[in-house]
Amino acid sequence: MDKNVATPSLASTVSAVVVLLLASTLIRGVKATIGVNYGTVANNLPPPASVARFLLESTVINRVRLFDADPQLVQAFAHTGIALTITIPNDQIPLLTNLSFAQQWVKTTLTPQIPTTNIVRVLLGNEVLSTANKFLISALVPAMQTLHTALVAESLDRRIKISTPHSLGILASSSPPSSGKFRQGYDTHVIKPLLSFLRATNSSFMINPYPFFGCSEETLDYALFRPTNKVFDEMSQRIYTNMLDGQLDAIFSAMKLLDFTDVEIVIAETGWPSKGDPGQVGVEAEVAAEYNSNLIKHVTSGVGTPLMPNRTFETFIFALFNEDLKPGPTCERNFGLFDPNMKPVYDIGILRQTARLNFPGNQTPVGKKWCVPKSGAVDEALQRNIDYVCGLGLDCGPVKEGGACFVPDTVQAHAAYVMNLYYQAMGRNDYDCDFEQTGAITNVDPSNGRCNY
Ligand SMILES: *[C@@H]1O[C@H](CO)[C@@H](O)[C@H](O)[C@H]1NC(C)=O
Ligand SMILES: *[C@@H]1O[C@H](CO)[C@@H](O)[C@H](O)[C@H]1NC(C)=O
Ligand SMILES: *[C@@H]1O[C@H](CO)[C@@H](O)[C@H](O)[C@H]1NC(C)=O
Repeated sequence: MDKNVATPSLASTVSAVVVLLLASTLIRGVKATIGVNYGTVANNLPPPASVARFLLESTVINRVRLFDADPQLVQAFAHTGIALTITIPNDQIPLLTNLSFAQQWVKTTLTPQIPTTNIVRVLLGNEVLSTANKFLISALVPAMQTLHTALVAESLDRRIKISTPHSLGILASSSPPSSGKFRQGYDTHVIKPLLSFLRATNSSFMINPYPFFGCSEETLDYALFRPTNKVFDEMSQRIYTNMLDGQLDAIFSAMKLLDFTDVEIVIAETGWPSKGDPGQVGVEAEVAAEYNSNLIKHVTSGVGTPLMPNRTFETFIFALFNEDLKPGPTCERNFGLFDPNMKPVYDIGILRQTARLNFPGNQTPVGKKWCVPKSGAVDEALQRNIDYVCGLGLDCGPVKEGGACFVPDTVQAHAAYVMNLYYQAMGRNDYDCDFEQTGAITNVDPSNGRCNY
């Protein structure tokens, strides 16, 4: 990520009551594709296979970006269907300009994983232009072209797209948005050939916009999509209601100067830390939740931006986990949606119902209902219910010996716990408590002693 982001000036401030909306209520029901960056600069993360399973079963996240192509990480996503974007690290870019190396890389890294793993994109490096390393920068587009040739040879070019993400530091100007243009020199020598390549291969231009790094106390509301501040762009006569739109449109304007408005823009990284150093603005879990949930709502809404109306943007939130080994200020280690033990740092509505049950804050919902055996239901039928639900992989531990709901050790009591487990997990629809007419819904909490329903 990059802090070199122009801060927009506030043209007018409209005062309004800011209501902190709980993220989950805003985006519940959104089926759009939500991606995360799975960074691994930490010494306490769960095994990759557990992470993949967790994402699949407990969240609605269906796109993941990796910062390398580590086979162990890639393989963890086999048979999950999760769309995977993998990365060839910056230092390997020059090697990829060698066609036999690229072919070998494709044969050893990609081919064995296809089709069990849904690899959809390979990134050549990350923020390569920001490295200011001329050797890397000049190798970038040739390496992408060579890798593409290697993909064609293996007939993988339709399935797998090639791109490379940029920081907003590639812009010489970004405020107002319509004045956006790429840095001189890079514009014609790197970005233009890059955009030509992306257009020819139907791939996307990828950027890492971080309103967090571009905002101050005055522009915090604007960065958080709060309906208080507006910025007027006199050149385009467009009104901006949030900083991300301004950043996206600055990129769009720069692409327009080079005549590439047809190339899709993908947000490869954006996010907000839940912790920071004393004196830092907006570094709390509630604020991070607000940014990320408003972000998802905005990019999937189809509203688009002032210069790109009616579009959605494929977006990858940074990051999946808090990463304890990241250097720099405290905030760098606290961009995660989850702690390393997979507990959400905050909820932005990406948890599935099953996972939501265990999330603090969902403890005593008003009007909660439970599912228990109908009076008169026979043990044989109830045992079938237990076998069915536990066979689905829901956590039946509490009714096993030593579990909090083992006592009383009767089929009736165990069935009550397990049938309710299923009912809650499936979303509390009446039909989720049918169980071939052996279940009944109740308003009375059946919890007892240590046994929590
Ligand atoms: C190109 O890559 C191949 C395969 O890795 C290697 O054997 C060869 O030495 C490389 N050529 C150059 C010029 O680096
Ligand atoms: C390009 O990709 C988009 C999705 O990213 C797809 O809808 C479109 O059909 C593709 N076009 C071509 C010519 O392959
Ligand atoms: C965007 O959608 C709105 C509402 O559906 C429509 O009126 C408008 O013409 C669209 N704009 C573009 C540029 O497609």
